[in-house]
Amino acid sequence: MAAEETMRAFLVFEGLDGSGKSTLIERLAAELKARGRDLILTREPGGTPLAEDIRGILLRTDVEAPCDRAELLLYEASRAQHVDRVIKPALARGQWVLCDRFAASTVAFQSFARRLARAEVDWLNAYAIAGADPDLYVLLDLPVEESFRRRAHRNLGQGVDDDRFEREAREFHEAVRLGYLTQAREAPRNWLVLDAAQSPEALFEDLLKNLEGRGWLAKS
Ligand code: TMP
Repeated sequence: MAAEETMRAFLVFEGLDGSGKSTLIERLAAELKARGRDLILTREPGGTPLAEDIRGILLRTDVEAPCDRAELLLYEASRAQHVDRVIKPALARGQWVLCDRFAASTVAFQSFARRLARAEVDWLNAYAIAGADPDLYVLLDLPVEESFRRRAHRNLGQGVDDDRFEREAREFHEAVRLGYLTQAREAPRNWLVLDAAQSPEALFEDLLKNLEGRGWLAKS
């Protein structure tokens, strides 16, 4: 079997609301399946029954909001469970793992936006991840203005309410975006920054080219 066929990767997709993460993940999953790759799709917070329960606690707006430290610890508890029960076993089976958000969101939201100390967030992330570091973070970068516009459009169409994070002010989301871009600058080899303002097709092409360039997929 060629090395390329045995290759598996742990890819994480990050970005503001409305950046097109879900569509891009679904497209990539379909492409990988068409190429005979075994994969799982998962997300954070969530990905296991317990972690999905924690997600419910984190996003609901009808009860007392967690304080910032409690919020951080809930994300990390959800992550530890997800890593041990889902991500590590999948990687051990040789599956690709496509994950909607992961530890970089904690740095962006809980450190850059909530202003918890970066060193403490980094330590807790490492503790929860326990060695299951992503091979690549894909950032779908979008101006906050455009993210707000897309979210308003979506909410209007689907009649859904904003969750606890979506209710935060513009400055909060600017800090989140800066948090992602800063992490991408700090570790350029582990990050791919895509311009999420372009069409879903162009975004997908950019991603595919990058994965081919890394030798993770054969050129199509
Ligand atoms: P989403 O999956 O619908 O984007 O909702 C998850 C929300 O949780 C989103 O607003 C980002 C936020 N979040 C954090 O604040 N910290 C984290 O570590 C993660 C994974 C998500």
